[in-house]
Amino acid sequence: MAATTRRRIATRARIADTGSVVAIAQKHCVACHAIRPTHEAFPEAPKGVRLETVEELRRYAVLIEQQAVRSDVMPLGNETGMTDDERRDLGAWLGGE
Ligand code: HEC
Repeated sequence: MAATTRRRIATRARIADTGSVVAIAQKHCVACHAIRPTHEAFPEAPKGVRLETVEELRRYAVLIEQQAVRSDVMPLGNETGMTDDERRDLGAWLGGE
């Protein structure tokens, strides 16, 4: 019997690993979107949106895409200097399941 091994062809864009996506949120979002924000202007998470865990990132996936992937509304004023690469990685991961 001929062994026909089919290779899986990767059709999707590279998906950022979960660890680096959490790191992106740590760097660019949690100063405001945390239980206890460190940003002096925000005593609590704006709109109650906290982005500290994988579960929270998943829960707000649609809104995050609107705010930080398909637009640059967030991070607010881009104070943290989020890059297009980081937005792409975030978007790929959010849409990757
Ligand atoms: C400097 C503070 C700050 C940072 C940093 C920040 N946000 Fe926000 N975020 C806000 C504020 C303020 C609002 C509420 C805006 C409003 O009232 O419409 C908000 C709202 C949101 C909302 C809810 C939008 C809605 O319509 O309900 C999402 C989702 C969000 N931010 C995602 C992010 C993501 C993702 C990041 C990081 C890439 C981020 N934010 C970084 C301040 C921040």
